[in-house]
Amino acid sequence: MQQAIYTVVIVAALSVAAASIKPVNEPLAALPANAHEDNLMEKLNVNAAENSALRDSLASASAFLEVYKVLMSPRCMNCHPKGDQPLQGDDNHLHVMDVQRGEDGKGMYALKCANCHQPQNVPGANMPPGNPNWHLPPADMPMVFEGKSPRELAIQLKDPKQNGHKTMQQLIHHVSKDSLVLWGWNPGEGRTLPPLKHAEFVKQFKAWVATGAVAPAE
Ligand code: HEC
Ligand code: HEC
Repeated sequence: MQQAIYTVVIVAALSVAAASIKPVNEPLAALPANAHEDNLMEKLNVNAAENSALRDSLASASAFLEVYKVLMSPRCMNCHPKGDQPLQGDDNHLHVMDVQRGEDGKGMYALKCANCHQPQNVPGANMPPGNPNWHLPPADMPMVFEGKSPRELAIQLKDPKQNGHKTMQQLIHHVSKDSLVLWGWNPGEGRTLPPLKHAEFVKQFKAWVATGAVAPAE
């Protein structure tokens, strides 16, 4: 990827340099009129197309870096842990009482999520946050965010085998409308919000997809 960028940049730079050189005594007589300029214009057009592809892929990667800040924030990462235990708090500590994911993500034995997590946030500090559908992704598709680099997470999100069989349009719908995602911006007393406003997060997510859903370089 970096090599490709260098190549494009170098080729573009050389063409600009070539275009600005006006040879004084060049024997153009043997060539059809304007052949020299046509040739250059053609090259410049190719470079323009390459440049706009490059611009798109840079814009896409930088939109994803904004999206990534939200995905890695505690309100999201706590339900997208690398292990089989949800996390809690802004320091992402393991959920107390050894609460486990369970096969369907809804907890195990007496520690089913819904036993403590009500349909709404329970008012008060350190009370369980709520949502009618409060659970982790299932064990066979855990959708891990914790510990992933931007590149790894972008690749995972695009992969239907890892993202809950979603198309990119369904992913946009998920981040725009899903009630667990929206909970992140209404997390109950004493919990910080993700670093971007929800509307800005959705805007960056759409921009990432519209420009090719490029995975940032490592
Ligand atoms: C025994 C009760 C209980 C059970 C069972 C339980 N939780 Fe919790 N959970 C809590 C309480 C209480 C809090 C709030 C802790 C605090 O804010 O200090 C909490 C907080 C959380 C948080 C932290 C939210 C945040 O962003 O800080 C997550 C995530 C979470 N629970 C997920 C789950 C999941 C998923 C399950 C089921 C697999 C589950 N919990 C089962 C009581 C429970
Ligand atoms: C209470 C737990 C919980 C919280 C909090 C939560 N999620 Fe999720 N998330 C899930 C579950 C469960 C799924 C899988 C269900 C589905 O696909 O509909 C999921 C799926 C996703 C997906 C689908 C694709 C994939 O590969 O991961 C995205 C994107 C996502 N969540 C983003 C977020 C964002 C952004 C936040 C924070 C603003 C967030 N989640 C907070 C539980 C949670």
